[in-house]
Amino acid sequence: MNIITELLGTKYPVIQGGMANIADHRLASAVSNAGGLGLIGAGGWDVDKVRSEIKLCKELTDKPFGVNIMLMSPHAEKISDMVIEEGIKIITTGAGNPGIYIDKWKNAGIKVIPVVPSVSLAKRVQRVGADAVIVEGTEAGGHVGELTTFTLVPQVVDAISIPVIAAGGIADSRGVDASFMLGASGIQIGTVLLASIECPVHENYKNKIVKSKDTDTVVTGRSTGAPVRVLKNKMSREYLRMTKEKNVPLEEMEKLTLGSLRKAVFDGDMDYGSVMAGQVAGLVKEIRSVKAILDDLFLKSKVYSGELK
Ligand SMILES: Cc1cc2nc3c(=O)[nH]c(=O)nc-3n(C[C@H](O)[C@H](O)[C@H](O)COP(=O)(O)O)c2cc1C
Repeated sequence: MNIITELLGTKYPVIQGGMANIADHRLASAVSNAGGLGLIGAGGWDVDKVRSEIKLCKELTDKPFGVNIMLMSPHAEKISDMVIEEGIKIITTGAGNPGIYIDKWKNAGIKVIPVVPSVSLAKRVQRVGADAVIVEGTEAGGHVGELTTFTLVPQVVDAISIPVIAAGGIADSRGVDASFMLGASGIQIGTVLLASIECPVHENYKNKIVKSKDTDTVVTGRSTGAPVRVLKNKMSREYLRMTKEKNVPLEEMEKLTLGSLRKAVFDGDMDYGSVMAGQVAGLVKEIRSVKAILDDLFLKSKVYSGELK
């Protein structure tokens, strides 16, 4: 048995990325029912909203699912207690070190899997008791670090002894095989699931992913310390133009990006919405069911099938 399927209690060693505003009970339950680990992405939601998503997810699946907690959210602390009350067994964390919560989660029997963008954070979270790490390369959609999946995964594998899950740039079985060859024991995916039938984003968002090509993503927010990978559009071009010009007030730039993810996700605004997606969007050619995506990832994988050792 694979160490990650054992840890997660899933059929396949795959976690669905906890995408803010997107990863609700519909996507999470579809992924769990298809054999992966679905996640409710808490993002900036308050504790009541996350609790109601958990309850709805429980109605749609009897398979394990988890919650992704963004540590910089003002609601993180309350959510950290609520997940215990709701009997959640797996938590992934983004944007920092979950050290202050780990003892109470572990006492409640919860497995904790932080997302890390560097060897140093991987070592720190191992020290405070993480069960595994998700190592995310800069190819990924959403908030990103600097290093690529290809360089970061083996460096983290060499530096720590807990299992490593690779994320960033995986959309087909070749990505699964590459991840295993680099020393990972499982994968996390985001972009490829945006183009799934069950994903609750606007149809325009799905179609934009399917139509995009290799060079269609760009990173905004590097200058403000919050780099985010999105598909190029009027908003990202305007934003990057502002960062090059001198003396553009920060408020002006914030006005442009305020609520922009919601504009893309709910209104389908592909011009002024923040269409977060990874570089692998160019490899995603059709909208499929979550089950078709997961089966395709693993049933065609040479390493997973044992054909390649
Ligand atoms: C639209 C979008 C939103 C995301 N939001 C979050 C988030 O709220 N928390 C988080 O930990 N990761 C977030 N991510 C990163 C994913 O969880 C995942 O690690 C990443 O998508 C994997 O790389 P890929 O996009 O190349 O598959 C987001 C990714 C996307 C595409």
